[in-house]
Amino acid sequence: MRSMNMGFLVSHGGSNMQAVVDACKQGTLNASPRVVISNNSGSMALQRARREGIPGYHLSAARFPDPVLLDEQIYSTLRRHDVDLVLLAGYMKRLGEQTMSGYEGSIMNIHPSLLPKFGGAGMYGGKVHEAVVAAGETVTGVTIHRVSGEYDTGEILAQCEVPVYPGDTADALGERVLKREHEFLVETLIAISEGRMG
Ligand code: GRF
Repeated sequence: MRSMNMGFLVSHGGSNMQAVVDACKQGTLNASPRVVISNNSGSMALQRARREGIPGYHLSAARFPDPVLLDEQIYSTLRRHDVDLVLLAGYMKRLGEQTMSGYEGSIMNIHPSLLPKFGGAGMYGGKVHEAVVAAGETVTGVTIHRVSGEYDTGEILAQCEVPVYPGDTADALGERVLKREHEFLVETLIAISEGRMG
């Protein structure tokens, strides 16, 4: 059984983070949410952290214009809270050298498509689902992968499919995918914690 002290990096809603926190509280996932870091001071994700009593930090380029210093802050905050698994759950920024190397192999990202399709710079939020609908795909999905230096790259740990229905709007599809993300993220983290994956 792997120790899972989790640190979350989030930019907006934080609904995936919430799904993981709920699973920890219910005891379905044997992990401990230690800290939430957001580049966005007004994010719903930080509000959720506050509500859950999880230490939350606003660490951004606005507060630390020097990227090296910002990276150092992020890394030291994760370490200070004994984090051993970092989850990027809707985090819109790239991580710096120190965090990437200090947590090599232990940083994961969730992406709302079947990577490598519909990933990379500029493919975030509703844009992913708009592109999937525009391309006429009949299936999309969710990818959980280890993070490497580039956006949406790194070893794929798990993927699941979500159907695209005829006449789907990007919004309708996005809602369906997000719902599946919540379940699939928890399922995948359970598998990792039990040593069946990762
Ligand atoms: C999710 O679709 C996730 O896959 C992507 O950003 C979105 C975050 O949603 N990386 P939320 O903040 O967890 O609600």
